[in-house]
Amino acid sequence: MGRPAVLPSLLLCDFGNLEREIIRLEEAGVEALHLDVMDGHFVPNLSYGMPIVAAIRRLTKLPLDVHLMISNPEQFAMQFVEAGADAITFHREASKSPAELLAKLKSEGMCAGIAFNPLTSLEESRSLIEDCDLVLVMSVEAGFGGQAFNSNALDRLKWLRQQLGDGVLLEVDGGVNTRTIGQCVEAGADLLVVGSAIFKQPDYCEAMSRLADAMQPTV
Ligand code: DX5
Ligand code: ZN
Repeated sequence: MGRPAVLPSLLLCDFGNLEREIIRLEEAGVEALHLDVMDGHFVPNLSYGMPIVAAIRRLTKLPLDVHLMISNPEQFAMQFVEAGADAITFHREASKSPAELLAKLKSEGMCAGIAFNPLTSLEESRSLIEDCDLVLVMSVEAGFGGQAFNSNALDRLKWLRQQLGDGVLLEVDGGVNTRTIGQCVEAGADLLVVGSAIFKQPDYCEAMSRLADAMQPTV
């Protein structure tokens, strides 16, 4: 996968036409898919679980980046490995034994990540972060698509890049669009999760190319 890469969040896609949606995304040059799993408990919203991840796995060879917004991720993470995830990220706020879960996911060959909501301290999880393959900086409070970008994510991305060097993937999620994506890349993000700015557009190819243009550094 190239870096930086735009990962569509399928939360707002047409689930009645999943196959067609994935073909349209592949045709638009998408390199990986971001799948948001919500449990109505850790976040006040429900989305989908293992069967949809497994269905998407059967429809595409694209890497699947699963974002678990669920309480007690220890209980379910392995079922997402079995469903065909390539990367699994769970929330720091939701996990009682993050170091163990991270190690378990890595031992299963996953790209293993931890997500942090905008108000959760990164410093306090410093040693944990050093063990991650991926750190997900939320630029909205997890739970819903279509929220406004919280620019504290930019300082957090910069801090992480400075602390961790290039060995860890940095991902940003929430309110990323043509106005905010350039700053995210400049701050050090490798993976840019985008929901509304793709799925509310009629033409995914055009949406992707506008995002690619907006990622270019300004001179
Ligand atoms: C929010 C989800 C996001 C969301 C992104 O909790 O993790 O992936 O769908 O959607 P937009 O780009 O609309 O903020
Ligand atoms: Zn997400």
